[in-house]
Amino acid sequence: MSVQKPWQGRFTQGTDTLVEQFTASINVDCRLYHHDIAGSMAHARMLAKVGAISVPERDQILSGLAQIEAEIAAGRFVWKQELEDVHMNIEADLIARVGEPGKKLHTGRSRNDQVVTATRLFTRDAIDGLRATLAAVQNALLDLATVEAATVMPGFTHLQVAQPVTFGHHLLAWFEMLERDDDRLIDCRRRVNVLPLGAAALAGTTYPIDRQYTASLLGFETVCENSLDAVADRDFAVELAAVLAILMSHLSRFCEELILWATTQFGFVDLPDSFCTGSSIMPQKKNPDVLELIRGKTGRAYGDLMALLTLVKSQPLAYNKDNQEDKEPLFDAVDTASSCLQAFGALIPVLRLNRPRLREAAASGFSTATDLADYLAKRGLPFRSAHDTVGQVVRRAIALNKGLMDFTLDELRKFSPLIDQDVFDVLTVDGSVNSRRHFGGTAPDAVREAIRRAHERRTNKGQE
Ligand code: ARG
Repeated sequence: MSVQKPWQGRFTQGTDTLVEQFTASINVDCRLYHHDIAGSMAHARMLAKVGAISVPERDQILSGLAQIEAEIAAGRFVWKQELEDVHMNIEADLIARVGEPGKKLHTGRSRNDQVVTATRLFTRDAIDGLRATLAAVQNALLDLATVEAATVMPGFTHLQVAQPVTFGHHLLAWFEMLERDDDRLIDCRRRVNVLPLGAAALAGTTYPIDRQYTASLLGFETVCENSLDAVADRDFAVELAAVLAILMSHLSRFCEELILWATTQFGFVDLPDSFCTGSSIMPQKKNPDVLELIRGKTGRAYGDLMALLTLVKSQPLAYNKDNQEDKEPLFDAVDTASSCLQAFGALIPVLRLNRPRLREAAASGFSTATDLADYLAKRGLPFRSAHDTVGQVVRRAIALNKGLMDFTLDELRKFSPLIDQDVFDVLTVDGSVNSRRHFGGTAPDAVREAIRRAHERRTNKGQE
């Protein structure tokens, strides 16, 4: 207990060393220094505006804080565990640096509204950074979808070949999932971007503060309506973790597909050597580590969400020290999602597709059987009967170990006299995808239209 603590006044005993170590959060929350200082600067400006401190006092506080920020950024600032957290470290240093005016910074403020202000500022910046990284992934998907708009591949349900689709269409499915993640980030940001400062410890303050002014200095859209709620809740952090958990679930699905597609059995894609590692014993191995790690890190993101949800559960109002535990999962969720998006975004442009293999796979598994049923139904056979007829054709094909395309017209007509020469147009993979031209369909033209709309939507959102 070498350092005087700001709250020392009423204490007769020093803090137990173990307790000091146990309660300190400086190792984690020092990361908030920039946002803590931004909050303090805005608070000092507001205090001077309403006359609670003088203009020269304000200026000394501001220049002291600016020096501290520069020192921290340069790695020259010494954090003290005895001073518990980022807030007390910076305030104590300010007082040591500028003297009396530094002692006035905490006028009309508490660490309770201070910490949640810094955390909200951090979260807002994190959302903006994540959105930029996400946009790069989405653009990479649109670029690849443009190149592969007409590349056919099998579409799956239950991981069994279902119907042919285009590779571009599959990539646009990924794009849409990420687009909703981006929408959720935008939506979450609105609830993050609210100023808690002014709530003080819990009950507000007796000074004639101007919270709207502080909010405008910090770019907060609105001000927390209730002082108890302002310091008590961390739902904004829970919400971001939830958004990121969903986002990671999407990335895990994309990665799982790529991992499958890169196997010898599928052989749809070849991952660049630069994104893989080898085996120390099996000379032939090339492992999709990056994709597996993203898939694995999804578990971390879910864990962060659970930690935050459990942290806020059952807490009585208003602030409790439990809330100090919000930072690690929040930081981890942001770092995890951000690094995974970066890695995934870097992989997309260097993927190499095996188009002949994709085409061959698209034609396998009687993938155009539904097209044949539709063909019969369009010629007047009720769809249920058509389904049954085609089921018999498939059964015969399995028995003869051949594909639907391998039957002659005469053979097919034995199943239904409605079948004519033009049946072979619908039995091909290209015929199948080309006939699905509607909005949201898999035809190359529909895919190109969807890509055009996607760019338009991004532009309207200000993301392009
Ligand atoms: N380090 C604390 C936190 O992260 C700051 C708030 C402390 N407030 C208090 N009343 N002990 O929550």
